[in-house]
Amino acid sequence: MKRHTHHSETKAVRGAANLDRKNGPLATPIFQTSTFEVTDNDEQLRATHTDQFYTRYGNPTNTVAENTIAELEGMDAALTFASGMGAITTTIMALLKSGDHIVAQRDIYGGVNKFLSQWLPKMGIETTFVDTTEYEQHVRAIRPNTKLLYLESPTNPTLRVVDFKKVAALAKQHKLLSMIDATFGTPINQHPAEFGIDLVMHSGTKYLSGHTDLICGAVAGRHELIKRIWETRTTLGNCMDPHASWMLVRGLKTLAVRVARQNENAQRVAEFLVEHAKVRKVHYPFLKSHPQYAVAREQMAGGGGMVSFEVEGTGEDARRVSEAMRLFTLAPSLGGVESLVSIPVLTSHAMIPAEERARMGVTEHLLRLSVGIENADDLISDLDHALEAVATPQTVQVG
Ligand SMILES: Cc1ncc(COP(=O)(O)O)c(C=O)c1O
Repeated sequence: MKRHTHHSETKAVRGAANLDRKNGPLATPIFQTSTFEVTDNDEQLRATHTDQFYTRYGNPTNTVAENTIAELEGMDAALTFASGMGAITTTIMALLKSGDHIVAQRDIYGGVNKFLSQWLPKMGIETTFVDTTEYEQHVRAIRPNTKLLYLESPTNPTLRVVDFKKVAALAKQHKLLSMIDATFGTPINQHPAEFGIDLVMHSGTKYLSGHTDLICGAVAGRHELIKRIWETRTTLGNCMDPHASWMLVRGLKTLAVRVARQNENAQRVAEFLVEHAKVRKVHYPFLKSHPQYAVAREQMAGGGGMVSFEVEGTGEDARRVSEAMRLFTLAPSLGGVESLVSIPVLTSHAMIPAEERARMGVTEHLLRLSVGIENADDLISDLDHALEAVATPQTVQVG
């Protein structure tokens, strides 16, 4: 694995730059071209495996985004995709074949659950879902044909934290590839590769780009795996447009400062909610009451910008609270500079059957907050005001 010398804050800004090179543009140019000219056909053959052949194969602007993400994750290489789902589906299709089996956590993004449980079986690939932090269940689910351990941490939307040391050891012992969706964790708060996870994936739509204006995905890993995924990406055509890559590169430069602020704001929001009479339960990795608090403190530099909580009431109450918020905007997605609120049963987890959702702890009265970079006091007063929308239980008058 490649040696990386700088800290994450530096890598986010200068990650892909050749610091010895002088006399050129400081900002990344956009190579807004579908194809590249060559001098002769020998050169044409040489260009095929470079980022100056045809943009479905690669593009210099895309390479800057990919190199920065590889640096941030401390891995050999990275690839970008047209969406986070594109990154996941392409990676799995590249590395698995008919007859293979996957062990996946129960708590994962709804779209991935759908892909694993409804799409992959059509291609002869089965998945067994296991309780996220019950590692004995992971072991029992492994079969002779199991190839992949699919993970997500912290999880969407209940913020469970997976023990990287345990899962990496488990994958190694059973010769499985391990792949983690690290979207919520960000490469500022955690580095799964340091623990031996093989592939680290992000919905770049979220924190990496950070401004709620882009759909993209990324996967980082060893050269040998990335090469196989690249072959599949060029075949499936699941690549990023250079202009979108340029926006991603620009977003990445402020990743560390955004995430630092989101960590602080989310911690304050979580601590406020815990004390609130109209809140039943709060999920946040850096709250002492979190079931994996010790693991989170050990492997994460910050608790992240996501907080979820159950109102002391019904699904109707949760809807009213979400609609009463002014600064937390009612919208799906997360990771941007603006604070957002959503109700997972209506958005990210709407496609999951109700009983499966119940096993995941995704209830109708659960709200998910993506905490932005606004002033924490303003965010807290917005929540305080919105929570007044929870109906006070009727006291029955007797007599
Ligand atoms: C944790 C997580 N992984 C993956 C995805 C899919 O990413 P995209 O919407 O960029 O395809 C999402 C989207 O919300 C997500 O929250």
